Amino acid sequence: MLQLFDSHCHLDGLGDKLPGVLERAAAAGVVGMATIGCDWESSQRASELAAAYDNITCAVGFHPSDSHGLDDKRFIELGELASRPEVRAVGEIGLDYYWDSTPRDIQQKWFVEQIHLARDLHKPIVIHDREAHGDLFDIVRRENAGEFGGIMHCFSGSWELAKEALRMNFYISFAGPLTYKNARALPEVAAQCPLDRILIETDTPYLAPEPLRGKPNEPANVRYVAARLAEIRRLDIEEIGAAVTRNARLFYGLAE
Ligand code: NI
Repeated sequence: MLQLFDSHCHLDGLGDKLPGVLERAAAAGVVGMATIGCDWESSQRASELAAAYDNITCAVGFHPSDSHGLDDKRFIELGELASRPEVRAVGEIGLDYYWDSTPRDIQQKWFVEQIHLARDLHKPIVIHDREAHGDLFDIVRRENAGEFGGIMHCFSGSWELAKEALRMNFYISFAGPLTYKNARALPEVAAQCPLDRILIETDTPYLAPEPLRGKPNEPANVRYVAARLAEIRRLDIEEIGAAVTRNARLFYGLAE
């Protein structure tokens, strides 16, 4: 039986579409999902969903593009939220130099603070890195940010960079872009990454895979990422599904 785990999605904004989305996910073999916070509201909602549904787990944190929403008071509240038992990781945190909606020094400050928060709680981190590889890896290295585990969400770097992330105790997570026809470095990374360090995700509602590119995404579509990975690795999709489900359960502390 095919089992899949969507290691990174945003279910907080789905409203009354949520029941249908969960039904289609179950029908597609998705046995678990991690909903990830980006700001205060989505983080609170993520923890509510994780507390309410057995097959949903969560991370809370401020996305770099939303990190201007953090101040000392909110950071203390985030720490209280992150310490709840249903919250399994701090994220998504990192650097985003593509949108540049928040000054880089502010992004870096709150990235480091949230790494420290995760370390204090002995929880792993979920990293967002967009066009910021150099500065991001400098911080991750300096802070030993993978100490309690980490995910490079929607990985977009080279195999060289992936190897460094693997050395620093990170999982590499592949999203819809792995299925895009113009993907160049990604299939190479997906071919070489050890199977026990790979995760797959949808980043719902963003990044819909081929053949649904441009449409709103949902966790059921993680099967397209799994199918592409199976093709690249020359494995059955069931074997890929078993591996990524096991990896995600280990990462989020859900394995028996
Ligand atoms: Ni995301």
